[in-house]
Amino acid sequence: MGNTPTPHIAAKEGDFAKTVLMPGDPLRAKYVAETFLEDARLVNNVRGVNGYTGTYHGKRVSVMASGMGMPSMGIYSYELYHFYGVENIIRIGTAGAIQPDLRIRDVVLGMGACTDSAFAGQFCLPGTFAPIASYELLAKAVSVIEEMGTVRYRVGNVLSSDVFYNDNPDTRDLWQKMGVLAVEMESAALYMNAARCGKNALTICTISDSLVTGEATTSEERQTSFNDMLKIALETA
Ligand code: HPA
Repeated sequence: MGNTPTPHIAAKEGDFAKTVLMPGDPLRAKYVAETFLEDARLVNNVRGVNGYTGTYHGKRVSVMASGMGMPSMGIYSYELYHFYGVENIIRIGTAGAIQPDLRIRDVVLGMGACTDSAFAGQFCLPGTFAPIASYELLAKAVSVIEEMGTVRYRVGNVLSSDVFYNDNPDTRDLWQKMGVLAVEMESAALYMNAARCGKNALTICTISDSLVTGEATTSEERQTSFNDMLKIALETA
């Protein structure tokens, strides 16, 4: 280490737990810390990206936002893995359903993350890299969900897209044909950084909207489903 603080994180070495939960939104990170962690301490507030470390049932856990999109997730996950000794990052976010059988509030575990981004270019691989979740984190999350017994969930591919407002009307159908479950904007960068650094990552998403039916969650539904997803992440951590 010896690289802390970093250009984007003001915390000192040792300030983060081995496992960091990452919602996209800084206000969600604050909510998690204030509502679910004991003795939560603010360890970063650069650019309003508040990071907290506390305990959950005696287990040391951190929570910090990733911001939106792969460049932002790429920066924060890189610095956490490389400079703060973080071993596990669990993204807790929302995603838009691509498959017609996915309903609003369903949970999607990203076993793999397809992408339309050029993030992998930096690794100069002589082929296409397949960004995948950590099997250990994925298996643990599945067992937590099975034990809860109340959550509708799917495990499979997500699409990490650089584009929210896509000009090409065919995009959804093309990924749908390949069985991709849902679209979000961060997991592929997270999974690639984890792979390159020999660390672990998992994305847990709740479906906030459907690109098939046009349905979207109300803010109340988003809160309830966020709490379910959070419980899965905290128990997996
Ligand atoms: N696209 C990208 N990211 C998202 C979406 C979406 O439709 N819904 C929630 N996160």
